[in-house]
Amino acid sequence: MSEIVKAEHRDGIATITVDNPPVNALSAAVRRGILERVNAAVADSKVQAIVLTCAGRTFIAGADITEFGKPPQPPSLHEVIDALDASPKPIVAAIHGTALGGGLETALGCHFRVAVKSAKLGLPEVKLGLLPGAGGTQRLPRAVGPELAVQMILGGNPISAAEALSHGLIDEVVDDTVAGGEAFARKVLAEQRSLRRLRDDDSKLAAARADRSIFTNAVAAMTKKARGFEAPFACADAIGAAIDLPFDEGMKRERDGFLKLVVGDQSKAQRYAFFAEREAAKVAGVPEGTKPRPVTKVAVIGAGTMGGGIAMSFANAGIPVTLIETGEQTLQRGLGIMQKNYEASAARGGLPPDAPAKRMALITGVVGLENVKDADLIIEAVFETMAVKKEVFSALDAYAKPGAVLASNTSYLNIDAIASVTKRPQDVLGMHFFSPANVMKLCEIVRGVQTAPDALLTAVTVAKAIAKVPVVVGVCDGFVGNRMLAARSNQAEKLLFEGALPQQVDAVVTKFGMPMGPFAMGDLAGLDIGWRSRQDRGIKSEIADALCEAGRFGQKTGKGYYAYEAGSRAPLPDPEVETLINDTLAKLGLKRREISDQEILERMIYPMINEGARILEEKIAARPSDIDVVWIYGYGWPVYRGGPMFYADLVGLKPIAERLSHYAKQTNDPSLEPAPLLKRLADEGRTFASLAKGG
Ligand code: 3HC
Ligand code: NAI
Repeated sequence: MSEIVKAEHRDGIATITVDNPPVNALSAAVRRGILERVNAAVADSKVQAIVLTCAGRTFIAGADITEFGKPPQPPSLHEVIDALDASPKPIVAAIHGTALGGGLETALGCHFRVAVKSAKLGLPEVKLGLLPGAGGTQRLPRAVGPELAVQMILGGNPISAAEALSHGLIDEVVDDTVAGGEAFARKVLAEQRSLRRLRDDDSKLAAARADRSIFTNAVAAMTKKARGFEAPFACADAIGAAIDLPFDEGMKRERDGFLKLVVGDQSKAQRYAFFAEREAAKVAGVPEGTKPRPVTKVAVIGAGTMGGGIAMSFANAGIPVTLIETGEQTLQRGLGIMQKNYEASAARGGLPPDAPAKRMALITGVVGLENVKDADLIIEAVFETMAVKKEVFSALDAYAKPGAVLASNTSYLNIDAIASVTKRPQDVLGMHFFSPANVMKLCEIVRGVQTAPDALLTAVTVAKAIAKVPVVVGVCDGFVGNRMLAARSNQAEKLLFEGALPQQVDAVVTKFGMPMGPFAMGDLAGLDIGWRSRQDRGIKSEIADALCEAGRFGQKTGKGYYAYEAGSRAPLPDPEVETLINDTLAKLGLKRREISDQEILERMIYPMINEGARILEEKIAARPSDIDVVWIYGYGWPVYRGGPMFYADLVGLKPIAERLSHYAKQTNDPSLEPAPLLKRLADEGRTFASLAKGG
């Protein structure tokens, strides 16, 4: 019998324990083990009731995602759940940690469920581009009603044990899974309770059967932000079948939907992204046994846009932080913005009413860099000029305690040059957050030539502790994300000179699934920043310059590449901009031509992929999947397209290399020629993914 799934007998109760670290995923061996143990317990006349529980850190966290796309191994999860459901003896699932996906579906196949207070229960399949495929879409609506089921299945977020209890998803909160589960089973026996098979219990569907708008309104609310995604709609369809059809027909609809999604590109991309994110956290080139340095005190320097957001990220994670400014006025201004930001979230219902005060209490604002002296980690977010950065880091070198990690949030500047002004370059690195820093999950951890492995690991660990997704990158202008973004911006600008309009370019990019196009993004960031920097460097960009000369700095002046109505952030195409572009082109003697959406798409995406290839060649990123994680979490690349490098593999490197060569010639721009790595892989008929496999 199975060793991964064990059974113990006490007073007529068989307790079956799954022990498949790290997360008790439902591998073929686990499925077989549960089935064998349940069948044995049902056949054993000494057993009156069964408890299903898990060892280690969690209840079953779902199907084994690594098995998707491989030939299915018997028994199927359906068979296992059918056996639980059909058992004539009561089965109690006893849950701790997270009961997710196929894990919760397994628990829903049991007749009763108990959970410890800290447990979380959910169906996160939608986040993998899937729908719950083992009865979740049919049993959860029967357990908690269609409204909450829609929220849980389309949103993919778990609920707490307390919520699960109040909605009837669990029967009792217990202190301990085994003791609590067995005690509950004894109660069921003593009270001779009838077995609750969710497949036979339609009571919670009655209201939505009488008035289907209960269901359709819930779906409408949950799909508002689902543009481009297939899975949420397929989930809704399957839940709808629970309302409209008998259980077995609903199961069939669920099955069909699941099989369609699991072979599709979107789910493939989302499963890839799940593993890419976890892979990114494994830092290459750090000797085995390296430990992060302890961090209990954190200081952030600069209470501007980024410093404020970074400090909020620490407060959100319950970590106290000292925020340092140059003067009382800038400090109070920064703290005021943070306070307002928290209050706005609370007013929208995104935070409990007492959260703003609690979180602000974790942020101590002070004036003067000498206040860093206790900090274990210092994150600098002052103005983006090398002279200012060097000045600040010299001061940090004087004030910071030995061993403190000194991080810069610089967007572009050379970390090695910043480190060079200190006597401790081994402690210096970049922690590049993305705006708005309290929201965006990416943190590029920039490793300088002299950065010590344990300092690097400290930054990675801290980033995870404040719920960021860390990706280690090397030193170069703009690191991974902004360097690739520059390749795209460059093309966006050129397209205007050839005849495209901002709204045409942005529409192609948003239709692809990005939250914003390059011109709307420019308006949001402010066009004056680039204008000043071009003036400093004596560079011209006639269209952008003309916009700024006309006082069009973007959203902050109510107009830029677009016009904005007072109080609105919605970009409106502006005929004045078209005139301005036409006049500029006439002055330069350039003619507009018709540019297809296909050309725009290729010129937005392929140069980024090309830059990604250079980044890999230069070892600025360790793996193609790291680049994809940067784009998903830093720039809102649609996760259902897996990131630029994954997308490149899907399109094929050969056609991409050919199109790049074509555009290099068409626009007389040698920088568009395929990078050597891209060319080599294309010639060899390979993918970027093949590099990760040691090619
Ligand atoms: N299958 C295979 N491997 C899994 C897995 C799964 N379902 N869930 C987690 N893992 C692996 C991770 O890749 C990681 O491996 P690594 O150590 O080699 O990198 C390891 O388990 C630990 O995972 P985390 O680092 O994420 O650990 P955390 O403690 O931070 O989080 C968790 C634990 C909340 C369970 C999180 O891993 C998670 O959300 N897992 C996915 C849950 C999920 O999506 N379940 C649904 C699967 S689809 C399904 O069930 C279909 C069904 O309806 C038929
Ligand atoms: P900001 O101008 O909003 O804020 C900078 C703050 O630093 C100001 O409040 C200023 O008073 C303070 N400051 C200046 N010198 C200081 C000193 N010696 N000691 C203490 N405080 C000092 O700038 P922003 O946008 O927050 O940028 C900060 C850094 O973050 C820059 O390096 C920038 O490149 C980087 N960054 C910016 C992003 C953005 O979207 N704004 C995104 C990612 C990184």
